[in-house]
Amino acid sequence: VSAQNTIKLDATDPKITINKNIYGHFAEHLGRCIYDGFYVGEDNKAIPNTNGVRNDIIEALKKLNIPNLRWPGGCFADTYHWKDGIGPKKDRPTIVNTWWGGVTENNSFGTHDFLNMCELLGAEPYLAGNMATGTVQELADWVQYVNHGGESPMSKLRKENGREKPWNVRYWGVGNEAWGCGGNMTAEYYANEYRKYATFMSSWTNTNGIFRIASGANVADYHWTETLMKNIPKGLLEGVALHSYSFVEWNKKGSATSFTEAQYFKTLQTAWKMEELVTKHSAIMDKYDPQKKIALVVDEWGGWYDVEDGTNPGFLYQQNTMRDAMIAGLTLNVFNNHAERVRMANLAQAVNVLQSVILTKGDQMILTPTYHVMEMYKVHQDAKLIPLTISTADYVFGDEKLPAVTASASLAKDGKTHLSLTNIDPSKAQEISIQLDGKKFKNVSGRVLTSKKLQDYNSFEKPNIIQPALFKDASLKGDQLKVKLPPFSVVVLELL
Ligand code: AHR
Repeated sequence: VSAQNTIKLDATDPKITINKNIYGHFAEHLGRCIYDGFYVGEDNKAIPNTNGVRNDIIEALKKLNIPNLRWPGGCFADTYHWKDGIGPKKDRPTIVNTWWGGVTENNSFGTHDFLNMCELLGAEPYLAGNMATGTVQELADWVQYVNHGGESPMSKLRKENGREKPWNVRYWGVGNEAWGCGGNMTAEYYANEYRKYATFMSSWTNTNGIFRIASGANVADYHWTETLMKNIPKGLLEGVALHSYSFVEWNKKGSATSFTEAQYFKTLQTAWKMEELVTKHSAIMDKYDPQKKIALVVDEWGGWYDVEDGTNPGFLYQQNTMRDAMIAGLTLNVFNNHAERVRMANLAQAVNVLQSVILTKGDQMILTPTYHVMEMYKVHQDAKLIPLTISTADYVFGDEKLPAVTASASLAKDGKTHLSLTNIDPSKAQEISIQLDGKKFKNVSGRVLTSKKLQDYNSFEKPNIIQPALFKDASLKGDQLKVKLPPFSVVVLELL
């Protein structure tokens, strides 16, 4: 047991809102995320569905209060032509998914299918526009098609396809990973292209406003962020993206379920890098936008390992262990604490791809440890961030170390205060002394997510190995809270 952990909360006057969109998800046409994931087809009699979308997935995501969903990619977005996915399904052309497995898709899941699904989920859609193989006209038409309430060629087409009212989509990506799969552009070239595309996206009536997100930096490419902030006029830009994944080694990822402590440590090291990344990208943004009008949008994050044995390597299907719960707990604490600038994030990806919250097999569906972390942390959505200072023991491996404990706290609209804590140390429990300033509390309760082994996961045979349990190791005396976190655990406390 380590006893060097102290946290000081100051709940006097929390001001900054933790945007619920930090808890967003991502659904790409990749492997079994859309087809044989979310979407099983309207004619499917074996799996209960609404307009072809699995009811069990809808229910599970609603329980997360899923705030937004990004679609259709990822790399796929810059190959996608939205007009191929509207109109009678039997007449839609096919598309070969060149980035992911080279499979031929029949475009039966298109714009209407996605936007109607978002309505079922109660989630805001985030459409990723094609700027690499599409045209300015094509993207402007897409905005017009989904958002224009008046009479126009695209709103007429939408109505002919059965949708009278516009969906009023607010969030739009302009290309994806423009430095890589989205066209291998330089930052300077992309910034110019962005200006052109963004100009023609705002002309359509939209009661919701338009929020354009520029394709952002790859991990620590600070030059990218600097160039976008410098070269794109303020009125054309609402968000700048950032992508960063967690892994052992990019070229030697290793199994999702069978890993050594050395591999675990390396994965968590890349996850913890997020703190430095958002700090440094934010500092660059502060130079050009001191009022923090433009959001940092981490629209791809999560753990990335080798695919499960026997599955298509292009489908990125992986299991999800307590290692992933640690990545999620830690990363969401980082985002919460940077809520002033980080106002949206999208875990990659929601179903059957990378660090999923949901896995499916036939008519079965399981919830991963990451799902449970997202569910426990949902109390922070749109709550006021309570600033904290933390001094934590190290998780030492060999001659390297990471902070063992991360934390974030918030005040919800209903007056409840929540504190989320993650202990990534795989063998040591952490005792934490917490000083609660600015508010008096009478009662503490909470839930914990942990397991017997770090490598444990929920399988289709044993779907509930890992699930939240009542947490009893917290005691409150006046303004002092004492907590003991088990090794590799996530705890969320409620203070009243
Ligand atoms: O999430 C998988 C892929 O990772 C996305 O398509 C791409 O944007 C990123 O490289």
